[in-house]
Amino acid sequence: MSAERADVQQIKDRIDIVAVISRYVTLTKAGSSYKGRCPFHKDDTPSFWVSPEKGLWHCFGCGAGGDVIGFMMKIENISFVEAAERLATEAGLSFAAHKGDDSRDELYEINIAVSRWFAENLTNSAAGHRGREYLAKRGYPEETWERFSLGYALPGWDHLRKRFSAKYGMKPLIDLGLLVRKDDGTTYDRFRDRVIFPILDLSGRPIAFGGRSFDGQPKYLNSPKTALFDKGNHLYGLSWARESMQKEQSAVLVEGYTDVISLHLAGITNAVGSMGTSLTQGQAHLFGRFVKEVVISYDRDTAGGMASLRGMQILRNHGLSVRVVRLPEGDDPDSLVRREGAERMHQLIDAAAPFHVFYIESLKERHNMASITGKEAALEEVRPFFHGIRSLPLRQEITTRLAELLNLPFDGLMQELTRGGLPRRPEAHVEEEEHHWDPQQVILSLLLRGDVSWDRVAALVSAEDFAPQYRSIVEKVSQMRGQVDVSSMTTFLDEDSARQVSYLTLSEPPWSDVERALQDALKRLVQLPEIEKKLNDLRGKMENAERSGDRRHLDELQRAYSTLVAQRLSRRRRDGNKQAAGQR
Ligand code: UTP
Ligand code: MN
Repeated sequence: MSAERADVQQIKDRIDIVAVISRYVTLTKAGSSYKGRCPFHKDDTPSFWVSPEKGLWHCFGCGAGGDVIGFMMKIENISFVEAAERLATEAGLSFAAHKGDDSRDELYEINIAVSRWFAENLTNSAAGHRGREYLAKRGYPEETWERFSLGYALPGWDHLRKRFSAKYGMKPLIDLGLLVRKDDGTTYDRFRDRVIFPILDLSGRPIAFGGRSFDGQPKYLNSPKTALFDKGNHLYGLSWARESMQKEQSAVLVEGYTDVISLHLAGITNAVGSMGTSLTQGQAHLFGRFVKEVVISYDRDTAGGMASLRGMQILRNHGLSVRVVRLPEGDDPDSLVRREGAERMHQLIDAAAPFHVFYIESLKERHNMASITGKEAALEEVRPFFHGIRSLPLRQEITTRLAELLNLPFDGLMQELTRGGLPRRPEAHVEEEEHHWDPQQVILSLLLRGDVSWDRVAALVSAEDFAPQYRSIVEKVSQMRGQVDVSSMTTFLDEDSARQVSYLTLSEPPWSDVERALQDALKRLVQLPEIEKKLNDLRGKMENAERSGDRRHLDELQRAYSTLVAQRLSRRRRDGNKQAAGQR
């Protein structure tokens, strides 16, 4: 890895970090740095900073940060090697990632090979006729199979193992969830006699598979969580939909694999699938990168469920507009579009109700509006929802609709809903966060900014005095000694540590006097452990005093003990528990 990492440094030296990030974020100059709105969270005030001088970026809103490679990895959802390769090409350098060095690359390679094999089984194998007939019957003719990379897993317990284990070994096949290991150590193929729906990442590589049975249970079997795949961070069909999502600034969110495919075939190409689970922050984040609006098109009984309401709230909290399609009873988008055609689906999408309207209507399904306790329960449910809404006109409208639904006077209802005052805006707490730094952060920050040298600090503290999350940074600093080069440092650090480095280097320091800050931090860092040692001593002495029955001495010791405990407490308070100020 080290030869490669050295090449990476060359890439970073050549690449203009501002130019690269400008493709995704509108940056304006601010002193020697640039600022803009963070692409990784909903950012009202520009809190995203880029320093060309240090080669770092950091968002003071959500805490993301690092170097230019880390930025590419995050925004394009690609691996370290891929990001380095892309930037190398731009810089006119060659970056040869040695195959096999990066185990992720091999995992991708395997999935690609397996996906091709599934596709081949579907089109060519004798056993594949079951799959061929099934798909044709569902309205997916052969011309469409390639477009969605569809395949078929052969019946039998070991076709996949026999085909791939010689070349790749058992371990990666097990790690990818393609083989399942039994207690006795033997394995069997996970996917057997199923139609295969590969799940692709943003750049179209297969990262997981879903397999539909013809009649058995479960209906769909999916790859487990692996190094390449985590359900909550992906959307089925995103690589096919991203372009049209971006163009329309809107996405249609459905539940199932076949819903996505049927909508795409009907020309509704901004459809993606949640794969049957409730939405996560990670998925909301993905949407936020491509669209302003998400139109939910779930099966009717799923849509009103608490889990999907929570998912819709997650989307809204990411600043996305949410509308909800009302499908006829018993339909999903797949069945509707096949029976009634694309035009009808378009109509339903256009007519989708804004989330708040849908939400208030859905109250009827959960509470009995004819009874007083039903109304009370509905009100209790609405309260947190209402508090989450910042717009006054929207609050008015919701209150009007609720007043009608509950048959209550508007004024009284408004008063009731705002009782106890509306809570602060959710963003407020990020902005108002005080920069209480713990002494470790102060010292590290001084080192990273080049304000003090490691030698001065090393006279008093060692790497072991720092918490584990800072240790890899301290080690790098101590290796670099005289000249700390933050930009090259992040090359060797993991994502969390790189984020710490960008935070501690680019943030406004909470001190004005470097010397005072250093002395104070050193005192705090070294003194606390000293108190700990004294307390330990005292505990020993108290035990002795108790044993020998020396009450006077014991009282004395106990008083000293309490004083120390109080000191420790006040120091800890002063240091704050803000170890995580630079973290999310
Ligand atoms: P549905 O049960 O609505 O299936 O599950 P569907 O997509 O309409 O499937 P068809 O039309 O009968 O073939 C929606 C999604 O939930 C996940 C799958 O992603 C599925 O597409 N799911 C469902 C599973 O992962 N496992 C299951 O057993 C069922
Ligand atoms: Mn279906």
